[in-house]
Amino acid sequence: MVQIDAPRPGGRPAAGPALRIASLVLDNPFILAPLAGLGNFPFRRLAKEAGAGLTFSEMVSAAALACRGRAALKLLESDPALEKPFGVQLFGKDPDQMAEAARIAVDHGADLIDLNLGCPARKVISSGHGSALLKDLPTVRKIIRALVRAVPVPVTLKTRPAFAPGVGETVFDLLPLAVDEGAAAITLHPRMTSEGFAGEADWRLVARLAEKSPVPIIGSGDIRGPREALDKLRRYGAAGVMIGRGAKGRPWLFRQCLALWRGEEIPAVTLEERLETAERHARLLYGSVGPKAPFMLRTVLMWYTKGLRGAAEFRARLCREEDLETQLDLLAQCVRRHREEAGDAPIDDWGGAPAKGEFSELS
Ligand SMILES: Cc1cc2nc3c(=O)[nH]c(=O)nc-3n(C[C@H](O)[C@H](O)[C@H](O)COP(=O)(O)O)c2cc1C
Repeated sequence: MVQIDAPRPGGRPAAGPALRIASLVLDNPFILAPLAGLGNFPFRRLAKEAGAGLTFSEMVSAAALACRGRAALKLLESDPALEKPFGVQLFGKDPDQMAEAARIAVDHGADLIDLNLGCPARKVISSGHGSALLKDLPTVRKIIRALVRAVPVPVTLKTRPAFAPGVGETVFDLLPLAVDEGAAAITLHPRMTSEGFAGEADWRLVARLAEKSPVPIIGSGDIRGPREALDKLRRYGAAGVMIGRGAKGRPWLFRQCLALWRGEEIPAVTLEERLETAERHARLLYGSVGPKAPFMLRTVLMWYTKGLRGAAEFRARLCREEDLETQLDLLAQCVRRHREEAGDAPIDDWGGAPAKGEFSELS
């Protein structure tokens, strides 16, 4: 079993690392999940500032990165002074190409390399990548071996339990071979690949895997708030928990998880903080993505209006605007209106499943 210094119930965490992944020591077990299309450097930076113990890049194609493609390199954008430790996730199936991509990622600051074995997107699995590799464990073995030999940082995997119900739980066959080849941790999103994001993640599988595993098992799926994060961490014996959709427009979730983990009160999020964070997110994004900004900004600003009165009207107006200052002005109006109608009381801002069309290949 994995040794972690978990906080004592209701008290401060014991001294020492919260989670160790081979040579990498995390201060806490709350991890920002890889999120393709969303988890760019501005998004991750806010999560890191709020206290995330580890952040992950969006999945990067090893084939594109090995050729030093511009779009793939852009996904490695980070700053070691602001984001450490930083995990880079790769998808691919050719061991040599994966090794080369991992070396490039480490040269660009990656503190950990993660192998994607969980992506259910049609365009990824149709070429035998992502979760399709669960049907080809001999190749997975070769990839892990190549990665571990290629880089001096820990190599981890993120997977689903199996490709589809009825084929057994592949992850229990994957575990010994991954450990044998030197994988340092496994993240399990406990839904079958064929289920996409439907239904509820079955965290009992995380518990069963953690019981058998000599390396840390991290659970991922359906964490919406700090109490749920702590509950999943303690109840299912996970060494860490990943938060994905729950962090969209809610970077403070990490601060709230940390407070609860330390036995402190969950800090409330004021409307001021919501507005300031949204504005900061928008400006960072604008600085990072340039011409793509108006489209991405709309999505991001909408996240921060979840639960606000009059948000629907704001969104309709926001969609027609391309200028950052005008968009921010609309957001400030939306927050003002909410305050006039509902005061400063905390709001329920859980965004839930991806909006229709937001990541259609995944559903
Ligand atoms: C929009 C979106 C993009 C995702 N991209 C990735 C990815 O690049 N790599 C990966 O391993 N998982 C990816 N996932 C899965 C998440 O990392 C996470 O395992 C899953 O969403 C369940 O956690 P959650 O309920 O906290 O979101 C993605 C999920 C969503 C919704």
